[in-house]
Amino acid sequence: MTPEQVDLVQKSFQKVVPIAGTAADLFYDRLFEIAPETRAMFPADMAEQKKKLMAMLATAVTNLHKLDTILPAVKELGKRHKGYGVTAEQYAPVGAALLWTLEKGLGPDFTPETKAAWTEVYTALAGVMTSA
Ligand code: HEM
Repeated sequence: MTPEQVDLVQKSFQKVVPIAGTAADLFYDRLFEIAPETRAMFPADMAEQKKKLMAMLATAVTNLHKLDTILPAVKELGKRHKGYGVTAEQYAPVGAALLWTLEKGLGPDFTPETKAAWTEVYTALAGVMTSA
């Protein structure tokens, strides 16, 4: 990732923070629409899950310029996901739901450059998680 891309992701995420609750709702609604088979993998009550997802994203975004510092945590997250029964293929619909959510949440601020930068972030995280 270039420093410009890190900047784009961090600045755009700042705009998501005030609407984090709505963004998490949008994200899981979208995920369960495009990959309904994932619904049963999550608890019935998604409140805690939504908070954890936004917190993890915030940590990743904050530390993008020093990704190596969070690599061990991302690897552990990847191993836990294997334990939840998550397959490598399932990272694609999750990534698609994330980009869709950002597009809805950010509107015109979700420029092609911002989308490309987020795609890199997600691909990097998913890559570390699946290879862990
Ligand atoms: C970059 C990608 C992802 C991130 C950052 C992420 C983040 C998280 C976090 C922070 C948790 C809380 C539990 C923990 O820390 O172990 C979690 C749990 C979980 N995630 Fe993910 N996740 C990602 C990808 C996926 C994918 C691809 C799936 C596939 C459907 C998935 C399904 C789940 C499930 C089933 C749980 C456990 C729910 C429970 O039993 O409480 N995640 N995820």
